[in-house]
Amino acid sequence: MTHPLMQRLHDDHRNFRQILELLVQEVDRLDALTEDERDLDLIAEVMQYMVHYADRFHHPLEDEVYELLAKHDRSDAIAQLEREHVDLERLGEDLLQRAHFEISMAEGWDRFAADLRGYASNLATHKDLEEEKVFPLAKVLLNAKDFDAIQGRFAWLDDPVFGGGMAQGYKVLGERLLRRAATD
Ligand SMILES: [Fe+2]
Ligand SMILES: [Fe+2]
Repeated sequence: MTHPLMQRLHDDHRNFRQILELLVQEVDRLDALTEDERDLDLIAEVMQYMVHYADRFHHPLEDEVYELLAKHDRSDAIAQLEREHVDLERLGEDLLQRAHFEISMAEGWDRFAADLRGYASNLATHKDLEEEKVFPLAKVLLNAKDFDAIQGRFAWLDDPVFGGGMAQGYKVLGERLLRRAATD
């Protein structure tokens, strides 16, 4: 049986896939609009979710798993994932700032759009490496006691978008996800 901690990480990845698809669709949609017509609310909420949830909960939780895993397995993939967490956090915060303050308008849409697409692509590749290579390793090399210990030490955070209740600050994203679920 999959430990609840690993299940949570899998569930997060499934949710991130949805979020990233929405992000890229939105960037494509805004591409076709003029500068005056573009509003960045959805992009700002997506980046807020990634910075406030993925970077403050999901990635630190994975880092704990990888730290323990590195005692059993010295593969480059683990060090690479840890480095990518740092890079993703830096890029995510930068994109959030740019979406919030609409710096993108001053810098030009194309540059901002390219960076958003790059972020989505990097995160998707990162997540695939975890799902395909490192999580299977964690399930073999770590046991329930290891996962329990990490879970016990870790502040278990509610997902502000996919958790029980929609937290404030995610109105546009919540509506877009509901609309998407209704048409699926
Ligand atoms: Fe990760
Ligand atoms: Fe992950």
